[in-house]
Amino acid sequence: MELALRVVGLSASLVLGTVTTVYFAPRSVKRKLLQATMLKEGDPELDTSRKYEALPHGKLQSLARNVWTVSGTLPQPGPGFNRNMTVWRVPDSSDLVIHSPICLDKETRAALEDLGTVACVIVPNMHHRLDEHAYREAYPEASFVCPANMAKKVTSCKTNFTVTAEEAASKFGFQALEPDAQIDFDELVYLFPVEKSAAGRQVAVFNDLLWNIKEEKADFVSSLVGSATGHLGMTAIGRIMCPDLAHLRRWIEANFVKNESVRLEAIVVAHGDVVTADEIPAQLAKAMQSMTTVVDA
Ligand SMILES: [Fe+2]
Repeated sequence: MELALRVVGLSASLVLGTVTTVYFAPRSVKRKLLQATMLKEGDPELDTSRKYEALPHGKLQSLARNVWTVSGTLPQPGPGFNRNMTVWRVPDSSDLVIHSPICLDKETRAALEDLGTVACVIVPNMHHRLDEHAYREAYPEASFVCPANMAKKVTSCKTNFTVTAEEAASKFGFQALEPDAQIDFDELVYLFPVEKSAAGRQVAVFNDLLWNIKEEKADFVSSLVGSATGHLGMTAIGRIMCPDLAHLRRWIEANFVKNESVRLEAIVVAHGDVVTADEIPAQLAKAMQSMTTVVDA
């Protein structure tokens, strides 16, 4: 009994010591740890056996002219936070571009297909591939694209993605911006114009770079990764993975706050709530505030 208690005590001390050491380690060490574990390169979440099967999700919600979103769930048991898919119809066309595909129930899929023809599917990063294969089977005529940096790095993407998101942007007429911050997510930020006019307004779609999970909707996992900030912002993992947060903050400010040609009607993030037009200035300010850390390296 005494020996068992000693073993339990020693194990608890080891766990506590490891957690404390990791918590106070410089960001460069934490970044290497994440790269070797959670964010290891490879083919995470590419499941070619997964059929087109809808998990619980909401309805198609209109955000602006030619832009819709659907909020869905992740497989359970698993994280309780949501995932968002964005649908953009090329203005004056029937072509649909989908960002971060989610399998839809029969009724919602019919509503999507009433909007136009699925012409392009953007796989935003290597961790958002759960329904990619199902979409390839459902829409074989569509072009499947991913950021150029992801296509270079992820083994199956080298052959499965022959067109990059950057190339699709110039073909379909949206913008694909690369965060100038050496962040290791290999994802882009998209600006989808709501009308054909070059002076028109846009909807911005971020992926894992910014989350917007309200505290009351947070589950254990989202609290653990530091994403339940209650506002638009970076997760703790995002902050660790970005070597130069001040640089990223300036990039956000230059592109989304001070750029007069960017007039946003909404911001969609991969996880959390959509930011509506009236909330955008205050939420972007909070997002930039989140790009700081007390432990730097
Ligand atoms: Fe994500």
